[in-house]
Amino acid sequence: MPPISRNLTSATLATLLVAGSLAPAPLTAAPAATASDKAPVDAASWQRADPAMDRFIADLMVKMTLDEKIGQLTLLTSNWESTGPTMRDSYKEDIRAGRVGAIFNAYTAKYTRELQALAVEGTRLKIPLLFGYDVIHGHRTIFPISLGEAASWDLQAIEKAARISAIEASAEGIHWTFSPMVDIARDPRWGRISEGAGEDVYLGSLIAKARVRGYQGGDLSRPDTILATAKHFAAYGAAQAGRDYHTVDISERTMRDVYLPPFKAAADAGAATFMTAFNEYDGVPASGSHYLLTDVLRKKWGFKGFVVTDYTSINEMVPHGYAKDLKQAGEQAIRAGVDMDMQGAVFMENLAKSVAEGKVDTARIDAAVKAILEMKYRLGLFDDPYRYADAAREKATIYKPAFLEAARDVARKSIVLLKNKDNVLPLAASAKSIAVIGPLGNSKEDMIGSWSAAGDRRTRPVTLLEGLQAGAPKGTTIAYAKGASYHFDDVGKTDGFAEALALAEKSDVIIAAMGEHWNMTGEAASRTSLDLPGNQQALLEALEKTGKPVILVLMSGRPNSIEWADANVDAILEAWYPGTMGGHAIADILYGRYNPSGKLPVTFPRTVGQVPIHYDMKNTGRPIELGAPGAKYVSRYLNTPNTPLYPFGYGLSYTSFTYSPVTLDRSKIRPGEPLTASVTVTNSGPRDGEEVVQLYVRDLVGSVTRPVKELKGFQKIGLKKGETRTVRFTLTDADLAFTRQDMSWGSEPGAFKLWIGPSSAEGSEASFELTE
Ligand code: NOJ
Repeated sequence: MPPISRNLTSATLATLLVAGSLAPAPLTAAPAATASDKAPVDAASWQRADPAMDRFIADLMVKMTLDEKIGQLTLLTSNWESTGPTMRDSYKEDIRAGRVGAIFNAYTAKYTRELQALAVEGTRLKIPLLFGYDVIHGHRTIFPISLGEAASWDLQAIEKAARISAIEASAEGIHWTFSPMVDIARDPRWGRISEGAGEDVYLGSLIAKARVRGYQGGDLSRPDTILATAKHFAAYGAAQAGRDYHTVDISERTMRDVYLPPFKAAADAGAATFMTAFNEYDGVPASGSHYLLTDVLRKKWGFKGFVVTDYTSINEMVPHGYAKDLKQAGEQAIRAGVDMDMQGAVFMENLAKSVAEGKVDTARIDAAVKAILEMKYRLGLFDDPYRYADAAREKATIYKPAFLEAARDVARKSIVLLKNKDNVLPLAASAKSIAVIGPLGNSKEDMIGSWSAAGDRRTRPVTLLEGLQAGAPKGTTIAYAKGASYHFDDVGKTDGFAEALALAEKSDVIIAAMGEHWNMTGEAASRTSLDLPGNQQALLEALEKTGKPVILVLMSGRPNSIEWADANVDAILEAWYPGTMGGHAIADILYGRYNPSGKLPVTFPRTVGQVPIHYDMKNTGRPIELGAPGAKYVSRYLNTPNTPLYPFGYGLSYTSFTYSPVTLDRSKIRPGEPLTASVTVTNSGPRDGEEVVQLYVRDLVGSVTRPVKELKGFQKIGLKKGETRTVRFTLTDADLAFTRQDMSWGSEPGAFKLWIGPSSAEGSEASFELTE
């Protein structure tokens, strides 16, 4: 049976999405990353010259007072939601007084219309407001958390999820999403690892582009496209010890090679806005960094959109110890290249004085105002400020059946099968009684994870229990016992165990739905342990002792340390927080209606003590392989192997794939010359399936040391049972570029190794040389 996803994506979505807004869904699985990357959607088309716009904005700016200009540089939250530590209760007054150019955390056609009216009817120049919101992995219809979506390695599915998010959000008055978060994250203690695309530069860059294309589509003037934001610029994911908002102290080379490329990719794809980060880089808070905001972003990359700060991050330059007061912080920020102040009211309250004192150049303020007004113009807000606030469109759009089906499809694709002893999954027909046990087995609120925009956490999400019940084969009974708790304080308690164990004893199979409360990842949600919180581990061990098959369905926003589970339970599925349709998606996999195809976008450590651990580490001068087993003076731990529990790129299927040795069309290339690497992949198992074929390289000797492996290509292919396909990748020296010792960007001649395989830890090897 072919995977259900193919039918759903092509048949339903193509007809129900706004015509032309999506590239046609592939009939087979996602094509090569590079092919998808060249999809016809040009999200950068807003950068085209527009003389009529230039005239309009020049005329408008001539009429604006300095205070009105500063108003355009101010973004405030409404009191509908709070996504930060402060609230300015007078925000409506501020709008009426022309002190605000943009509002966030306000949505619905009705409410955005009401606030828009305050601006366009109440202010002298009637400049419309821009409405922003954190539409991160869906607006009403919630897709898997971003890290989960990344595990699909399916760029078209990810783009489609962003497109649907934009269609829903724009129908509720939103013009601008604070997404994608493109921060590389290599520390699972950091709660915001859930919001990005994982640890890898190449995968993260392609996903950044896909999301920008999805949100912005090919034409910002369409009322179903929204501005994207690449955030948090830059290196927020490198917070020391994984503690949110903590200091970042990395080399410039690491900044350039690891943290900046996904931002560059987002800028190249046409991301209309960038958001600064809370952290410092090389001693300078990002919101005051001329290097990042002007030298790199504007001068080097040619960015033409506008830069917004993160929430009160200008103000935070005072506690950072970088500014003596808010006025100075505002001056540092605007001079560095910030255009819009999120929630800090620093520009609003200080900038005019700074101008009067000659501390800030009015030309810099004009440039910021112009960039913001241009976006309003490109969105068509000067033609009709209410064009996104359309109650009829809102009603007809949100939670469309096709969107829900797409959410189910992306969720299935994002789930990773980590273990499947003796093919215990998919559930056999003989599994007539199923026990669902654990705090995440029937929890609606958890299914959609953190940053779930306007998603309904109480009624809409389909739980695992509901999904299993809805799809159960005839004659199957399914019962639920919570059994354990994921709350930190409940460690040591056993009060629910007896009920859970009694249910387990009388069932054929146990599905242990465990993980973290949805609020344990996301912003300000760092942990020092990656273990299952609360008393879940104890219950899991008790369940295993019953001798019944135990399937762990893990729901969380970070890699957990599940070494015991890996050694002891029968099967493990990483389901992340799978979204509104999550329960159906997991059930599709458990019952075998969808063959799992997800692969980890992030390394799973055995223990938190291995962190940071990622596949593209350096070899060191004393790699463990150099010593005999147990040798002392090599780079290793005394008590834990160096290897992760599950490597980057890993994920199982219900079928198996056999790889031929790699062949290269030549053994030497000159700069600019293509090298084609091929492998033949056979579906040698019992059912149709999809495989992510991955290509890695290693530059053996460089002017600076190079990682042991780097992902340079992947293709997600669908293969029928017994089918064989040759997969080809083409590389040139441009793919081998890095920041060389003299800080220039480029490749270096020398010997390389190359692998093609099913994960970063497997694959057959070949060698080639790059000559001068
Ligand atoms: C703070 C977060 O860091 C950022 O990602 C988000 O967009 C803003 N708050 C607005 O909610």
